[in-house]
Amino acid sequence: TKIYVPLDSSAVAMGADEVAAKIEAITGIAPVRNGSRGMAWLEPLVEVETPKGRVAYGPVTLDDVAGLIRDGMMEGRAHALCHGLTEELPFLARQERLTFARCGITNPLSMDEYASHGGLDGIQKAIGMSAEAICDEVMTSGLRGRGGAAFPAGIKWNTVRGADADQKYIVCNADEGDSGTFADRMIMEGDPLLLIEGMAIAGLGTGATKGYIYLRSEYPVAKRVLTAAIDRAYWKGLLGNDVLGSGKAFHLEVFMGAGAYICGEETSLLESLEGKRGQVRAKPPLPALEGLMAKPTLVHNVISLCAVPTILAKGGEFYRDHGMGRSTGTMPFQIAGNVACGGLVEKAFGVTLGELVNGFGGGTRSGRPIKAAQVGGPLGAYIPLDKFDMPMDYETFAKIGAGVGHGGIVVFDDTADMAEQAKYAFDFCAHESCGKCTPCRIGAVRGSEEMAKLIAGGDATTHLTLVEDLCEVMEDGSLCAMGGMTPVPVKSALDYFPEDFLKGDKG
Ligand code: NAI
Ligand code: SF4
Repeated sequence: TKIYVPLDSSAVAMGADEVAAKIEAITGIAPVRNGSRGMAWLEPLVEVETPKGRVAYGPVTLDDVAGLIRDGMMEGRAHALCHGLTEELPFLARQERLTFARCGITNPLSMDEYASHGGLDGIQKAIGMSAEAICDEVMTSGLRGRGGAAFPAGIKWNTVRGADADQKYIVCNADEGDSGTFADRMIMEGDPLLLIEGMAIAGLGTGATKGYIYLRSEYPVAKRVLTAAIDRAYWKGLLGNDVLGSGKAFHLEVFMGAGAYICGEETSLLESLEGKRGQVRAKPPLPALEGLMAKPTLVHNVISLCAVPTILAKGGEFYRDHGMGRSTGTMPFQIAGNVACGGLVEKAFGVTLGELVNGFGGGTRSGRPIKAAQVGGPLGAYIPLDKFDMPMDYETFAKIGAGVGHGGIVVFDDTADMAEQAKYAFDFCAHESCGKCTPCRIGAVRGSEEMAKLIAGGDATTHLTLVEDLCEVMEDGSLCAMGGMTPVPVKSALDYFPEDFLKGDKG
């Protein structure tokens, strides 16, 4: 019998390590430690292989294990915690998993399982292609940066490829700092070889021979899994001086960040990687031309790089055929906050926010009506319920001054106070600002003060006029997106929920 217990942080946080140890102690069978299937509310999700397929049990606590085994879990028998065949669970069956196709299915550290489930097909193709043809494929796919800025990846790749230098780098931004996001972590823990393959392909496409994964310090499990996967990739020839017999070198290491949100901004990240304090550099020069150690550097988010093996394996056109308009391909949406069934949903762009929050997420966990969802991290807009039929694509969101960002969705019920949330945006910025430019360094603190006075019952017109002025200065005068986008949650809260800001006036 093969049995699976995820090693994913969300499962471990809910006791997966203890559950795995107990299953082994009772049965003598060591569970495979797989990645998560992305159904956070069912973690730890234990799966048992049966002739019909894998049967899911969850959430399994330490106290459930002995009883489950006594009642026939190892044979896949029915039980109150049994959900039937994993693949048939509607939450999974309705997804379009391209990037997360293997996550939770294979042993994250097995190169053989990786290869037998379609892994390495992309790099094998890339090895037979010129660097220009590889970049063309990425361009054809229409892939745009999944970190949040949605810049066309193909243009970035061609800029690095065309730069003349003795050394070029691939830097993976794994400093996943947005609240409510976990796609980067989940894929690094559940399918780390995919990221390694994506980065090695990026090396072939741009002429870079060295890569770094800048990993946030709060991800110890990802560090352990990635480090082990890199060792394995060297052993199996996916990394080294002769990548899979191509005659081209690609070397990779993990670099641990030190827990600063701003180090997710690419130029701060590069400073930090060089051993300096994480402060934003002015652009230009673009990192693609002068990045790490002033050398041409391709900086990409984890998910952008993880999309690449599929694009090479199946072709740019295959990828482009998913999604809508200029938002091509799939996006791993992460549903969190006050939601009944939180987790990861990979869908083609165009799915509506309502389908994600209600269809997949099942509404709020509290059972109360939804008030809003914040989309795109702490610097994203609060979207009210009456806009939940909006398709999730870059252009539609941009039209209302919002963004899809890194695909994080945090759900709030009707007890949320949007004035408090607006204050929180300023507090967050004040805490995380790198301090380099005045609009952000001072503006965030002033914004928080004004909101505190308003919440305490101050005159709304006076304080809101100042808040709106501050937002304009921060938007126009900040050096990077941290200060520049802090007004987004503030203004959306104010636009859609003005009544929450007028409570003091009402007495
Ligand atoms: P940006 O628009 O300045 O740049 C996007 C990317 O394209 C960068 O890598 C940049 O170097 C590159 N680029 C721009 N023009 C180029 C050209 N002509 N040739 C080649 N490359 C070019 O945006 P930025 O400041 O890097 O990112 C802001 C975004 O980050 C925000 O929209 C926000 O959604 C997101 N964000 C994500 C977070 C997360 O945890 N994933 C956290 C905070 C913000
Ligand atoms: Fe630093 Fe804020 Fe200015 Fe960005 S906007 S450079 S985080 S002070």
